[in-house]
Amino acid sequence: MVLHWAVAVLIIGNVVLGLAADSLPDDWIRTAVDTHKSIGLTVLGLAVLRLLWRFANPPPPLPEGFSPLERFGAHAAHAALYVLIFALPISGWIHDSAWSGAATHPFLLWGVVPHVRIAAITALDPATREQIHATFFAFHVWFAYALYALLAAHILGALKHQFWDGERELQRMLS
Ligand code: HEM
Repeated sequence: MVLHWAVAVLIIGNVVLGLAADSLPDDWIRTAVDTHKSIGLTVLGLAVLRLLWRFANPPPPLPEGFSPLERFGAHAAHAALYVLIFALPISGWIHDSAWSGAATHPFLLWGVVPHVRIAAITALDPATREQIHATFFAFHVWFAYALYALLAAHILGALKHQFWDGERELQRMLS
């Protein structure tokens, strides 16, 4: 539950930061984008922990009242969210590692840890890096669109069970 809420808050904060970065005053943009990258890589670390935790501690079954369609929908949405929790930071990380400005703009994770870019990508020739940079930004943006749709389905589904069906859905994730 702690990992669920930590990842949820960090992802939503990172979406806001990613979308807002370009509209910030010029001297804030670098800090905002670097913070976005640090949050994203932290999410990746927490996602790995979360997956390991989940394998070691299978979650309780869904409530009895769920129809087969609701069960399928809930499991499919959760699986797709897991994929995106990895795909978003990894695509951003590849995009950033291929950036032509990487050499002149060192990125320190949380302003402290150096050399977090993917060395196999920073070592490629400039033309290949440029191609990877553009392609993986397109993936990053599309993964973000998929995230908006799935997050909406996930939140609306949880609220429907809580308030429409009268199940203890939020309590399940809070207590
Ligand atoms: C939780 C993980 C992440 C989420 C949810 C996320 C989400 C986003 C979103 C919504 C945007 C704006 C896309 C648009 O313009 O439509 C963005 C931009 C960007 N992201 Fe991420 N991202 C994540 C992780 C990362 C990571 C790990 C990196 C790099 C290490 C990264 C690098 C970038 C960069 C460089 C931009 C462009 C910022 C700009 O100059 O405007 N992201 N991201």
